[in-house]
Amino acid sequence: MEETILKYLNENNVIEDSIKYAQTLQVPHDQIVGSLKSLSSDEYVILQQLETRTWTLTEDGKDYLENGTPERRLFELIPADGIAKAELEKQPFFQLGWTYGMRNKWFKLEGAIVKKLVNEIKDQDAEFLAQIKEGKELDKKIIDNLNKRKTIKLSVDKFYKVTKGPQFSLVRKKKATDLTQEMILKGTWKEESFKPYNFNALGKEIETGNLHPLLKARAQFVEILLEMGFEEMPTNQYVESSFWNFDSLFVPQQHPARDSQDTFFVKDPAECRIPNQEYWNKVKDVHEKGGYGSIGWRYDYSEEEAKKNVFRTHTTGVSAKMLYKLAQQKEFKPQKYFSIDRVFRNENLDATHLAEFHQFEGVVAERNIGLPQLKAIITEFFKKIGITDLKFKPTYNPYTEPSMEVYGYHPLLKKWVEIGNSGVFRPEMLRPMGLPDDVSVLGWGLSLERPTMIQYKVANIRDLLGFKVSVKYVKNNPICCFSK
Ligand code: PHE
Repeated sequence: MEETILKYLNENNVIEDSIKYAQTLQVPHDQIVGSLKSLSSDEYVILQQLETRTWTLTEDGKDYLENGTPERRLFELIPADGIAKAELEKQPFFQLGWTYGMRNKWFKLEGAIVKKLVNEIKDQDAEFLAQIKEGKELDKKIIDNLNKRKTIKLSVDKFYKVTKGPQFSLVRKKKATDLTQEMILKGTWKEESFKPYNFNALGKEIETGNLHPLLKARAQFVEILLEMGFEEMPTNQYVESSFWNFDSLFVPQQHPARDSQDTFFVKDPAECRIPNQEYWNKVKDVHEKGGYGSIGWRYDYSEEEAKKNVFRTHTTGVSAKMLYKLAQQKEFKPQKYFSIDRVFRNENLDATHLAEFHQFEGVVAERNIGLPQLKAIITEFFKKIGITDLKFKPTYNPYTEPSMEVYGYHPLLKKWVEIGNSGVFRPEMLRPMGLPDDVSVLGWGLSLERPTMIQYKVANIRDLLGFKVSVKYVKNNPICCFSK
């Protein structure tokens, strides 16, 4: 192809229109353009990009030209003594035909009857369309009107005008890309011309697996917590009994969060087994009558309610199980646990809420600790993920007292955002398990998604989790994020 082009230029000096030239050669225009660009990169030819703008008929335009405009078709359906408008309305082209026919004053409405105003009509727009098809130039007003009727469209054809370049020659000598051993031995490198290095060329894209941003954030959190001496809890089950998810945490059975509006209940199996009758009875007692300095919730505890299986609404049920296990040991040893796993809530979905997300949770069991230690641990953790300005706000949780919401200053959004919830677990939860009286347990939880959205500047949670996440986004996401 390149040689054909060079030969043609040698004889004719110029290719006026690359599209027409491609037609004479009967090859696709793209192919010619490829060769031209390659030739121009070595200055064999000079390219000038030009364009022609032509109006062509749309599908509607072709239809009007062939079968008449809607207004003409409508006009032809009207007999000399008129016709009921309702009759005309049955035609698919009625609406358009009516608008334009009325505008042309071809017919009028008398009561419910449509009557012709003229005997003969000239289907002007159809005639204009015929002229467009022949390639005639028409007045701007007419073009505008036809365009507005969506009967014509503008097509822009880009083509090149080609002339000889400073390096023009009949044969193209490929420039050498590499200096070879042979060139050096034979000394031919002196005559070679070399292709300049393209330092802007991008490397070939590599096909690899990619870590999802949530997994990256998760890995970072895990590392920080291990560093702080925390141990991971086994959260490998999505279905939890209401007993562990709520009751063991002293959440009353009538609590609104236990409504099907907020919680997904499992149909099959709908019920779970009672874990340990002795502990179960203690939980029942503390709900009904209290104890350990509490008056309890004072209602009849329902076994049926406790047995209901749910998609866990938080991972705190697992924390409860771990604390119960800890309490069964002969001698109490201080413990720090964490977990990061999926939880489910029957939420209204929006830009920041999904029905499933990941909860990240830490608990610390130790003698003689309280709010100051909780604040210190939370502050240290967030400092390690780059959030240094924190505020604590009192809040209410059924299972912690006191409880605090944690707010972090978001330097990009320039505002305070809620990043977590925390508190000191209530004696009503801990004592029935059998933990010694002087042992306190601190807990805090947050979603993995919230800080990840902040870190990776994601505005909509659906771009981060769920079926709408683009694979490309995951792929192009930075390997790591520096918070400073
Ligand atoms: N489970 C709480 C939540 O769903 C988080 C939390 C954990 C709060 C531990 C206090 C203590 O938000």
